[in-house]
Amino acid sequence: MTVASFFDSMDYAPSKEDDSAARAWLASHDARFGHFIEGAFTKPGDGFDTIEPATGARLAQVSQGTGADVDAAFKAARKAQKGWAALPGHERALKLYALARIIQRNSRLIAVVEALDNGKPIRETRDIDIPLAARHFYHHAGWAQIQESQFACYDPVGVVGQVIPWNFPFLMLAWKLAPALALGNTVVLKPAEATPLTALLFAELAQAAGLPAGVLNIVTGDGETGALIAAHESADKVAFTGSTEVGRRIREATAGQGKSLTLELGGKSPFIVCDDADIDAAVEGVVDAIWFNQGQVCCAGSRLLVQEGVSDVFHARLADRMKTLRIGASLDKTIDMSAVIDGPQRDRIAGMVDRAVAAGAKLLQSGEVPAKGSYYPPTVLRDVPATCEAATEEIFGPVAVSMTFRTPAEAVQLANHTRYGLAASVWSENINLALELAAQVQAGIVWVNCTNVMDAGVGFGGVKESGFGREGGREGCYDYLKPRAFAKAAERKAITPAPAKGFSFDPVDRTAKFFIGGKQARPDGGTARPVLGAKGTVLGEVGEGNRKDVRNAVEAARGAASWGGKSQHNRAQILYYMGENLSARAAEFAERLSAQTGIKADKARAEVAASVSRLFTYGAWADKVEGTVHMPPMKGLALAVPEPIGVAGVICPEESPLLGFLSTVAPLIATGNRVVAIASEAHPLSATDFYQVLETSDLPGGVLNILTGSAQTLGRELAKHNDVDVLWAFTTPELSAEVERLSIGNLKRVFTDHGRAWDWTSAEAEGEVFLRQATQIKNIWVPYGE
Ligand code: NAI
Repeated sequence: MTVASFFDSMDYAPSKEDDSAARAWLASHDARFGHFIEGAFTKPGDGFDTIEPATGARLAQVSQGTGADVDAAFKAARKAQKGWAALPGHERALKLYALARIIQRNSRLIAVVEALDNGKPIRETRDIDIPLAARHFYHHAGWAQIQESQFACYDPVGVVGQVIPWNFPFLMLAWKLAPALALGNTVVLKPAEATPLTALLFAELAQAAGLPAGVLNIVTGDGETGALIAAHESADKVAFTGSTEVGRRIREATAGQGKSLTLELGGKSPFIVCDDADIDAAVEGVVDAIWFNQGQVCCAGSRLLVQEGVSDVFHARLADRMKTLRIGASLDKTIDMSAVIDGPQRDRIAGMVDRAVAAGAKLLQSGEVPAKGSYYPPTVLRDVPATCEAATEEIFGPVAVSMTFRTPAEAVQLANHTRYGLAASVWSENINLALELAAQVQAGIVWVNCTNVMDAGVGFGGVKESGFGREGGREGCYDYLKPRAFAKAAERKAITPAPAKGFSFDPVDRTAKFFIGGKQARPDGGTARPVLGAKGTVLGEVGEGNRKDVRNAVEAARGAASWGGKSQHNRAQILYYMGENLSARAAEFAERLSAQTGIKADKARAEVAASVSRLFTYGAWADKVEGTVHMPPMKGLALAVPEPIGVAGVICPEESPLLGFLSTVAPLIATGNRVVAIASEAHPLSATDFYQVLETSDLPGGVLNILTGSAQTLGRELAKHNDVDVLWAFTTPELSAEVERLSIGNLKRVFTDHGRAWDWTSAEAEGEVFLRQATQIKNIWVPYGE
């Protein structure tokens, strides 16, 4: 064969990555692994095989983590946590740096083990997963170094339970471990049952890098082990990446345990191609969006939305490009796509595609797949009926569904017509249009003229049922920290009203109504409850809210969506004006506070003054909640933009009926959310008196809606309501637990003090902690250059 003959066919010669070092590493463990607990591997126990998806061959046996294993891992993590957190940031930075370096030095070995265990192409593990994992440790070494100055009012959360999926085993491990360890937490991590090997290899590397025993513990096993970790009483925080279904179960299992929780869940991310897009670039974008990692990517661009005028040319070029994709074994350096994770996953993908075709979708498929191993070819489904599961559910394979749109407004509508909100890509040569679409799409990450780009310094995470919390950058650090002031909060005391004094019919109707859509509204059930003062006398009556009232209030709040689009300056003016109006009525509000709670006149006046000040604080913040410009290692920027979450339900604290009410609703309003507030159950009259302030301020109807009645009845309804996007609960531990449990319908974010009352008069009861809970960050990636 001559060199010239290669040019006749232009075929690729076989180019297999050498796997001898990886096999030798497996052999050094006799291809059997225990768990990694307190700095050492345990004796291998009963377990299961891990399989090479590209060939179906067995790679190794790992142990199934039992309750005792999980207990031992948490015990070790707890023991190590105080010492690890007490180290100067610089000491932790050195360890994180050592981890980054040891990953780099062993990157070839890790890349090969990963490709073998997961089935993904070596080109991807070598060029993307492993370098990016190292970058996460470098980046977070930096946060450890400057933690004391940058997060002075925060402590580490403590011991963290982490459960990760199989699609990016090593990268997900890095995303989870780097921030947790950098900021002084210790960890019990479970890799996915299908891909445990690189986590075990990392444990060995961490040992070699001198990470203290107990700081990192790795327990292998399936979902049962995962459930034990998530629910473990010693976990102060749970961080999970995986399916939305399991995310829901974890939310339920951790409800009421006082744990911090972050969920990175599924997606059905739109990939919007406008008629002025660079079509060739967009076609190449699809390759990265849905065929990278065989489409097993939570943020995969799996819904192509193509503007009608360019649909034919776009799909024709896409079909041509599909023909050039090479599919083969994961260690072949010349392939674009390899096997999906296992046979059942391949069958699941095939089933969804077959059902879509039976429902009328047109199939575009290309490429020969090897007979052995779990392969599925690159696929596009056109004209998929909108209700078909392929159009709405996460397929998690190399399959995109494609639809067309006529106008940018229609593209936004289609893009947002999903329960998910992880990512989106927008392709247009018109930067104004692209940024307009980026602003309107509901997603945690938006890529303009690029896709699937990630960096350790840029937050990653979703909205809606794609979960909550961010990983990466400063944003992600906060998810591994807790405000120090919070630790000082004392248990909330239940307020028992004084016994009623006698009985009398009130000739005047003094029933305070609800405040819904900017107007006073009668309770749906027509019933009211008396409000007793500190001395047991009846001060008045308030409406007894029910489910229908909650629905009406939420509908009014949804209708006031334009509040989020108002200028920050405008929102600031309104909050100042509310403060001014409250100040004008300070004497009557103070009197009412004394009558309800029995506090002395000077204390009551102080609470009113603090309430006026709080409104001014949030007026001040309203035009100062700003984003960040990230500068990731690429030619371009990522704009981190804080956005309102949407409709917020608030169970206001019983104590401090005026200050507690305003401390919780004002940050939400300042940041553009609309609120349904449940007034203090024991002392609701300060909130109902506030209607007069609202009526004389310029707050648009529907932005703040106020209900009275049983906090439990109303709180439960808010928690269950799927049009409530976020719930704040400052109530009893029992009701906090219940609303967390009930929030799983739409996986709404819940911010609760778990029954530990803040001191509402303190400086910590206002400001950034609350503003962060009132917003979600969208990262918009904008590359530049031609
Ligand atoms: P999964 O969500 O069941 O597994 C992810 C991790 O959670 C694994 O480590 C698993 O052992 C663990 N786990 C399972 N049940 C658990 C429980 N009750 N409590 C705590 N941990 C638990 O994902 P799976 O079964 O591997 O894949 C099913 C589907 O989920 C896929 O077909 C795909 O559609 C989707 N998926 C989405 C991912 C994403 O990042 N969006 C990642 C993995 C899967």
